[in-house]
Amino acid sequence: MTRHRIAVLAGDFIGPEVIDATLEVLEALAPRTGLAFDFTPLPFGGHAIDRHGAPLPEVTKAGVLEADAVLMGSAGGPVGDHPWNRLPRELRVESGILGLRRHLGVYANLRPVAVFEGLEHLSPLKPEIARGTDLLIVRELTGGIYFGKPSQNGPDRGVSTDVYERHEVERIARSAFEAARLRRGRVTSVDKANVLDVSQFWRDVVIGVHATEFTDVALDHLYVDNAAMQLVRDPGAFDVVVTANLFGDILSDLAAVLPGSLGVLPSASLGGHVGLYEPVHGSAPDIAGRDLANPTGTLLSAAMMLRFGLGAPAAADALEGAVRAALAEDPTRDLGGTRGTSAFTAAVIAALPARVTSGARVAPGDPGATATAG
Ligand code: NAD
Ligand code: IPM
Ligand code: MN
Repeated sequence: MTRHRIAVLAGDFIGPEVIDATLEVLEALAPRTGLAFDFTPLPFGGHAIDRHGAPLPEVTKAGVLEADAVLMGSAGGPVGDHPWNRLPRELRVESGILGLRRHLGVYANLRPVAVFEGLEHLSPLKPEIARGTDLLIVRELTGGIYFGKPSQNGPDRGVSTDVYERHEVERIARSAFEAARLRRGRVTSVDKANVLDVSQFWRDVVIGVHATEFTDVALDHLYVDNAAMQLVRDPGAFDVVVTANLFGDILSDLAAVLPGSLGVLPSASLGGHVGLYEPVHGSAPDIAGRDLANPTGTLLSAAMMLRFGLGAPAAADALEGAVRAALAEDPTRDLGGTRGTSAFTAAVIAALPARVTSGARVAPGDPGATATAG
C-alpha cells in the first residue's frame, strides 16, 4: 500500500465545493487502486485572510513543502467591491495564489483542452469545428508581467513591468517541446513580438532552444491576437501552445469554452519542489452554495496529480474515464445538463471501475472494470 500525502487548499466560495467532491471521488478510488491518501487541509485565500491575517499563512507555506502533491480549489472574493479587494496588494488573495506558485517554484503550468469524442454537442462551437480538439497550453507561471518590477499603483501613474530572463524562457520552451514529443510533435509559440521587445526576446530564445535541442519537433509562431482568433476558428489545428504568463491566462479561459465550460478545465503546475494541481476557473461567487459548481476541472486536475505527481497512471485513466462517462450521461447545468454538484459526483463514483491494477490496468474478470491503459 502506497500512502500519499496531499496538501489540500480548498479556498473560497465554490473552491470547497469542488474540493469536497474531488476528495469524495478520490476516497472511492483509493481502495480500488491500492493507493492510500492522507489529506491535510491547509488555510488559503480569503478565509485565511480573515482567520490568519494573510492569504498564504506560514503554516500553509510549511505544509505544502511536506506534501507529495498540492491539490487546490479556487480562492478569491466577488469581482468588485469587497473587503478582500480593498487590502493592499501584498495581502490580497491573488497575491497568495502568485506567492504559492513562486514558493513551490512551479514555472510550467499545463492546461490541457480536449473535446472528448461524443461530447462535441457540449461545445458552443459547431460540432464539426469542436470535434477533435486536443491541445495543451503550456503557460509560463512564475515570471513575466505578473512579477516584474517596477510595479506601482500611484495617484497619477500605474506601472507593471513585463520581463523575462533567458533561463526562464529556455526552461518553459523545453517543457513545451518535451510535451510535444509525447503528443503530435508540434509547438506553437504565442507572443506579441511585432510590438513588445520582451516578446521578441521570447521568440528569439524559443527559436534558439528549438534549433539546438528539438529539431524533431515542428515549431511555428503566432501573435497573440491572431492566436485567440485561430483557437476559436480551427482549434483542431493546435497541438502544444507555449506562451507567457499573462497571454496564457487569457488564452486558457478562452480555450476553456471549447469543451463547453470554464468548469471543465484542469491544470498541473510543475517544475518545482512539489506539483500544484488546480482547476483553471476561479471561486465563482455568483453560483456558490447552490450545488451548481461543476467539479470536472478539479476532478481532472486530480487525475493529472495521479499521473504526474504520484506515478499512478492507471488510477488517472480510471478517474478520467469515469468523468467522461458521467459527462456523457448527463452533465452539470453550466454544460446544459440537469445534475447538481452532488448528483454529478455520485455519477462519477458510480462509473469508477471496480478494480484498477497498475500492471494489467484492468483486473481480468472484474465486472464493471472499464479502466483502459492510457
Ligand atoms: P470565475 O472563474 O470564478 O467565474 C467566471 C464564470 O464562470 C462565472 O460565471 C462562474 O459562475 C463560471 N464558473 C467558474 N467555474 C465554474 C464551475 N466550476 N462550474 C460552473 N460554472 C463555473 O472568474 P471570476 O468571476 O473572474 O473570478 C472570481 C474570483 O475568483 C476572483 O476573486 C478571482 O480573482 C478568483 N480566481 C481565482 C482563481 C484561482 O484560485 N486559481 C482563478 C481564477 C479566478
Ligand atoms: C488563473 C487565475 C489567476 C491567474 C489569478 C486569480 C491570480 O486567473 O489561475 O488563471 O491570473 O493566474
Ligand atoms: Mn485565469
